[in-house]
Amino acid sequence: MRILAVDTSCDETSAAVLHNDRVISNVISSQVDLHKKWGGVVPDIARRAHNERIDPVIREALARSRTTLETIDYFSATYGPGLAIALEVGLKHIQALALEHGKPFIPINHMEGHLLSPFARNAKGNHPLPPPEKFPLIGLLVSGGHTELVLTHDFGNYARIGSTLDDAAGEAFDKVAKMLELGYPGGPVISEFAKKGKPGRFPLPVPMEHSNDLNFSFSGLKTACLYRIREIRQEYPLWKPRDWVYDFCADFVRSVTLSLVLKLEGAVDHYSTVDGHSLKGILLGGGVMSNKDIRSAIRQSMRKRNIPVYQPYSTRLYTDNAAMIGTTAYYSVRRSDPAVTEGQRIKTIERDPVAEISSR
Ligand code: KG4
Ligand code: ZN
Repeated sequence: MRILAVDTSCDETSAAVLHNDRVISNVISSQVDLHKKWGGVVPDIARRAHNERIDPVIREALARSRTTLETIDYFSATYGPGLAIALEVGLKHIQALALEHGKPFIPINHMEGHLLSPFARNAKGNHPLPPPEKFPLIGLLVSGGHTELVLTHDFGNYARIGSTLDDAAGEAFDKVAKMLELGYPGGPVISEFAKKGKPGRFPLPVPMEHSNDLNFSFSGLKTACLYRIREIRQEYPLWKPRDWVYDFCADFVRSVTLSLVLKLEGAVDHYSTVDGHSLKGILLGGGVMSNKDIRSAIRQSMRKRNIPVYQPYSTRLYTDNAAMIGTTAYYSVRRSDPAVTEGQRIKTIERDPVAEISSR
């Protein structure tokens, strides 16, 4: 089965070609440079850039995989959640191609894409840590728009067991980076700086430490950062940023990490057995999971509980990309989703799939 997938949910224009669950090409055109000077994603600029780039990005994905449109069996695109006017560009484009070539169109939920990203295999069919097709699994999805725990009973059968009550973790990275005048997006630079610093000098609260549930919240941490940064600047006006920013970033990452690990541990303990089946592992997905130290802390904690942790085969699959959309489309076809069987070859985007995990 050959799949052409696209994702235009935010500020990356991406297209991928898959042979079953093997990612043959995965082209990602980032718009970061266009949005940087505005300190965040500007919807109109995003739409225009997606419109300009979608065709060349698809052509590049086809060329790199030595595939032509005529040989594609399934056309797939993210339908949501995301920036509506950005999503529309990829959706309309891919729907038109499906119609033109008389092939099925498979709309995919972006969060299901992040959740199933560890199931993607590379072009050779390898995966350093192939996830078992055994369930139940718990997904921890941490991105710019979402922070969620998803109990995964099977492909297409999910229950959200925890989510953020306010800001997503990625959003907190982006906002705190703005306070520190580190530019956009904040995740990569804060993660980089945190490695150069030491935690402990600027202790910050651990979000939802005593909440006794599986939900997250990052707006309190964000506010604590705002006040702490103000204090530091007032108390020590002569400190050069380098003197404290590395350490501050280390403390911020520590607080986010502790909160994520704590909630994951709560979920694993609570769902150690589901309907008589023992928990088989953890799936990691979303842009914030690019942070190696966060992943290490999660691994360390899960090792103690003997729970395997599965992650995508490449760091390119954490942040937004079309390969995870293609992988999800593959599993959607494989489980004979009724919407892609004969007689209903072109699906509409009105359908609200069972796989709906959340909307922004
Ligand atoms: O999954 P993603 O690409 O987009 C959404 O679906 O939201 O996640 C983007 C988020 C941004 O907030 C960005 O700052 C964060 O992921 N991010 C990181 C890193 N790289 C990207 N956060 C922490 N460490 C990173 N290395
Ligand atoms: Zn995403």
